[in-house]
Amino acid sequence: MKTLIRSATCVLPHDTLRTNVLMDGGKIVSIDAANHTPADEVIDAQGLHLLPGVIDDQVHFREPGLTHKEDLHTGSVACAKGGITTFLEMPNTNPLTISQQRLDEKLALAASKCVVNYGFYIGATCTNVDDLRTAQRTAGIKIFLGSSTGDLLVDDQSALERIFAETTLPICAHCEDESTFRANRDRLGGGHEYADHSKIRDHQAAIIATKRALDLAFRHHHRFHVLHVTTAAEVDLLRDHRGLITSEVCPHHLFFSVDDYHRLGSLLQMNPSIKTKEDNQRLWQGLLEGTIQIIATDHAPHTLEEKSLPYPASPSGLPAVENSLALLLDQVHHGRATLEQVVAWMCTRPALIWDIVDKGKIEVGYDADLVLVDLNKSQTIRNEEQLTKSKWSPWHGTTLTGWPVQTFVGGKTAFVHGRVDENVRGKEAIFDHARGGYWKSSDARNA
Ligand code: DOR
Repeated sequence: MKTLIRSATCVLPHDTLRTNVLMDGGKIVSIDAANHTPADEVIDAQGLHLLPGVIDDQVHFREPGLTHKEDLHTGSVACAKGGITTFLEMPNTNPLTISQQRLDEKLALAASKCVVNYGFYIGATCTNVDDLRTAQRTAGIKIFLGSSTGDLLVDDQSALERIFAETTLPICAHCEDESTFRANRDRLGGGHEYADHSKIRDHQAAIIATKRALDLAFRHHHRFHVLHVTTAAEVDLLRDHRGLITSEVCPHHLFFSVDDYHRLGSLLQMNPSIKTKEDNQRLWQGLLEGTIQIIATDHAPHTLEEKSLPYPASPSGLPAVENSLALLLDQVHHGRATLEQVVAWMCTRPALIWDIVDKGKIEVGYDADLVLVDLNKSQTIRNEEQLTKSKWSPWHGTTLTGWPVQTFVGGKTAFVHGRVDENVRGKEAIFDHARGGYWKSSDARNA
């Protein structure tokens, strides 16, 4: 079926201009203002902007094992609403995704129930380096250098050396130092409140772990991606990338600070923890200057009942996929970023970092994963309207200007008029790791 998106202002790789985009067979087949090819469906998109679909490289969709919080279907439905057309999902499910068999099982599950495209990481343990070496159909290896939700932790130096020395897949890590935050917890004693989370998982915990991971990556000359950076000091460390290191920041670490605990309590309890307003500013600068390349959500839903437990029984994590693009479009509205920068952070560069084939750009031959956004639409985030199974957002009550209004997955409309078509099915993202990641791409070389 041929679908023509007519007269949208399109963010193309080298230009932003009003043109027509024709999709057929799941691909973008023409970008041409003069294209009047008869189409089965014509979408008049005057006044709207067309972006490549968002690629979120860090989500926790909880399936298998923790599906009372989220599952691959509900998580993908929330993605479609938020303009995310491809997600990469983390291995801290139950059972853990730590072997090819578990990866294949997740891929089969996702094929049957995901509205958007999907990919999965394989989790590192102290003993599965053989699985990590031979894993296929995966975005890469995830290491938890500090424990978080679930049972994944690799803190042992010799195990880490082996993983960096003996594997070739790209590696990413949750960088919080286990022994540092354990010592902080012991020092602070009992009777904790939610705000203590940021004193336990403090700046030093993040900085020490990031330094440790960068040292491993440099010595072993291994591609490495720092997940959810939180501190100004890490931004300084990340300037020295040596063509190997990339990093990301999450909306909650950009827009919330420790000052918000009194208002939001455990809803802000996240790993890595929320830091200060100064860190917010430096993270934003890091993005603007290109030291941090991308934005991801770390969508990590827990039920409100679980979140209302007293600290430290309350679990860490918050849901974000259905609001992340709008949060950044609102920054465009306020003049703090350009639409082109948001596209680079959320669409184009994630595809380059993870070597995802034919995604991340509006270009002929690329997959027709697209999102139409209305930069003038103002809407307030409401818990009761959230599609994530957890049914809440830390941004409840916040009004944003700039929202996705129609999401296309492989050329099919997955979201329009405020509703997700739950019958649309995404596809497995294809990773061509021989491409060598972001720093080997022409986009990085020309930046
Ligand atoms: O706060 C977090 N929650 N951080 C993580 O890294 C994991 C996540 C989860 O899975 O709940």
